Amino acid sequence: MLSGAGLSAASGIPTFRGADGLWEGHRIDQVATPVAWKRDPTLVRRFYDLRRVAAAKAEPNAAHAALTRLQRQWGPERVVLVTQNVDGLLTRAGAPSVIEMHGSLHRLRCEAREDHPRVAVSGPQDPEGECGLCLAPLRPDIVWFGETPHALGRISEAVAACTWFLSVGTSGVVYPAAGYVEQAAWSGATCLEINPEPAGGPFNYVLRGGAETLLPSLVDHWLAGTP
Ligand code: OAD
Repeated sequence: MLSGAGLSAASGIPTFRGADGLWEGHRIDQVATPVAWKRDPTLVRRFYDLRRVAAAKAEPNAAHAALTRLQRQWGPERVVLVTQNVDGLLTRAGAPSVIEMHGSLHRLRCEAREDHPRVAVSGPQDPEGECGLCLAPLRPDIVWFGETPHALGRISEAVAACTWFLSVGTSGVVYPAAGYVEQAAWSGATCLEINPEPAGGPFNYVLRGGAETLLPSLVDHWLAGTP
C-alpha cells in the first residue's frame, strides 16, 4: 500500500498540490531542497516547524485506522505500508510497521552525514542543536528534492512481490513513488486506486472519493474474506 498526502487530508493536513496546498505560499526550491537549506536554514526550519506543530495537533482519521486494522490483523509481512507522508499519523494510529520513504517531521538528522543517529524532536527545532557524533548542525529528517528516499530496496522487493497494490491519496507525480504502480502491474499485481481525482496509472480498479470514507469499508470487506 502506497499512500500520499490525501490519506491525511481528512485529518486537516493540506495536500501539497491541492487548491490550499502547502506549496502555494512557498516555491519548492525555497523550502525543500538541500540548496534551500544552505541558503536560508531559518526559513526552511520555520517551514518544517509549522508543519511539525500542525501534525502534532492533527488526529489520525478513519483511513489511518483502517490501514492499521488491516496490518494488525494480517501482519506487517503481508500488509506493507509505504507512505510518502512525513506526518507520522499512521504510526500514531497504531500501525505496527510503516515505511516512511520521505522521512519524518518528528526526527532530525545530521546535516553532514546521513548515517549518523537520528534525534527525536517535538515542537520547533532548536537552531543550536548539534549531531551527537560530529557536532554538525541538525536538519529536518525530510527527503528533499534531489535526495534519495529511504528503504528503496525493501520497497521495490515488496512492490515486485505483491498480489494487490493499493494507492491511496497520491497524485503520482513524484518519483520513485510514482513509478511503483507500473512496477506492480508489470509484476502481475492487481492495482487499485483510492483518490477523489484520477492520478493516472495502470489501475485495474479505481474508487473515487475520500480515503476516510472508502478505506474502512474496503478493509472490512477484505477482513471478511480473502481478496
Ligand atoms: P499531492 O498533494 O501531490 O497529492 C495528493 C493527492 O491526494 C491528490 O491526488 C488528491 O486528489 C488526493 N486527495 C485529496 N483528498 C483526498 C482524500 N480525502 N482521500 C484520498 N485522496 C485524496 O501529495 P503526494 O502525492 O503525497 O514530498 O505528493 C508526493 C510528494 O510530493 C510528497 O511526499 C512531498 C511532495 O513534494 C516530499 O516532501 C519529499
